[in-house]
Amino acid sequence: MGIWAYFCATMANESNKPVSVANTFQNIISHCKEYGFIFPSSEIYDGLQAVYDYGQMGSELKKNIKDYWWKSMTQLHDNIVGIDAAIFMHPTTWKASGHVDNFNDPMIDNKDSKKRYRVDHLIEAHAEGLNVSGKIQEAEKLLSEMDTLLAKDDFAGLKKLIEDNKIKCSISETCNWTDIRQFNLMFSTEFGSTVSSDGEDNKIYLRPETAQGIFVNFLNVQKSGRMKIPFGIAQIGKAFRNEIVARQFIFRMREFEQMEMQFFIRPGTQKEWYEFWKAERLKWHQNLGIPTEKYRFHDHIKLAHYADAACDIEFNFPIGFKELEGIHSRTDFDLKNHQEFSKKKQQYFDNDVDPATGKPYGNYIPYVIETSIGLDRMFLAVISHAYEEQDLSEGDKKDSRVVLKLPAKLAPIKLAVLPLTKKDGLPEIAETIMSNCRPHFKCFYEEKDSIGKRYRRMDALGTPFCVTVDHQTKEDDTVTIRHRDSMQQERVAIGDLLNIVTKALE
Ligand code: GAP
Repeated sequence: MGIWAYFCATMANESNKPVSVANTFQNIISHCKEYGFIFPSSEIYDGLQAVYDYGQMGSELKKNIKDYWWKSMTQLHDNIVGIDAAIFMHPTTWKASGHVDNFNDPMIDNKDSKKRYRVDHLIEAHAEGLNVSGKIQEAEKLLSEMDTLLAKDDFAGLKKLIEDNKIKCSISETCNWTDIRQFNLMFSTEFGSTVSSDGEDNKIYLRPETAQGIFVNFLNVQKSGRMKIPFGIAQIGKAFRNEIVARQFIFRMREFEQMEMQFFIRPGTQKEWYEFWKAERLKWHQNLGIPTEKYRFHDHIKLAHYADAACDIEFNFPIGFKELEGIHSRTDFDLKNHQEFSKKKQQYFDNDVDPATGKPYGNYIPYVIETSIGLDRMFLAVISHAYEEQDLSEGDKKDSRVVLKLPAKLAPIKLAVLPLTKKDGLPEIAETIMSNCRPHFKCFYEEKDSIGKRYRRMDALGTPFCVTVDHQTKEDDTVTIRHRDSMQQERVAIGDLLNIVTKALE
């Protein structure tokens, strides 16, 4: 069975998910493939698990999400600049960052199916099943016990929790579990042409987060950009993790993209900046027009090895509330360790006067607040919220449509130009509209099929506006503009089109 078929089958059969939820998710996945948003990677060879390709529509939508984030960070904040660091980094980077020693997940294998699970995901899935069947208190108790045991790295206790709750493998349906072991999530490869006998000398890692590319460039950017604390460095780029549980479509991938920003601050100010960035990031999400109740904060109990406070912005995906973005107070952990491992000072001289002493703050290693969002997860959040199956039947006349109600600024195509017929000079007028609008936003021209079919196709791609050029256009230079969400049509002058669409993209 190919990856896609396997994926759809496992989603539909997941025992602890209501069928309608699994169906909606499966429909979104099928829609993504049918309309050129997302394909399984190397599909002709049956795909590669948890690796996906973005198609002609998906790459446009993804780029628009990136632009929205990049603009909000680097253009709308005077004190944030962007960089683009290499994926390959000196291997000591990952020793200093703690990833070689600490970037592990506790895993457990089912002895019968040989399937490996991340312990927290296995328990969380069981808790979700309890929630669905109304056993909410039981679910909460289970999760809180799990959090306590995880915080203490108590693997024997976690295994007992799994056994006591009779948590089964979804494939073998047995409780025959191995002991829990740690598993490092970094991918490694060889650098250069010579391989040492132990394979270690030339071993480098594919970065598991983009953040370290920012930390190692902290002083380069600060000095060359004459940046004054507080300031931020933003980056968008690929990250790689050898995820074990990887069957939730683009929610958890082995190759994915992150949009991260490290905000460098004076030590002692981390609490206020942490709250500032929590509010700022939530505002960014809400500005897309997705309802507030789709988001919630989740404070971390077990903190990552680098953090003194951390929370997730969770989104209500079709698979339930899950992490979309992390906001972490990383203290001076990273810069301090890079200073120690590289033997190069990572200090900043702050000549602002400390009111408490009347003297400059002087030299210190800055603290950091990080905002880190998965681009692919944001894509999934946007497309799953936008996806709607509508029944438009009237009386005996059956009709339906699938529409992607994407925010106009994220839509892959902004305007479709559709001549009613292929003759009578209508395509020529449509082409003039195309050449006027094309330099300003992405347009699409189509003359095949009935106008109704063309509208439906544009709805499925999330195109906010369609204009139809008809015979009246030849007489009065007006066209019909159709609004995707309301399906309302109105007659407007060709000369007003550019304005109408541009305004909707603000
Ligand atoms: N630099 C901090 C960091 O990497 P993280 O919570 O591990 O923190 C940040 O990751 C974000 O990256 C997550 O909130 C999620 O959106 C995204 N992400 C992490 N692992 C992912 C994966 N395997 N597939 C897709 N997105 C992932």
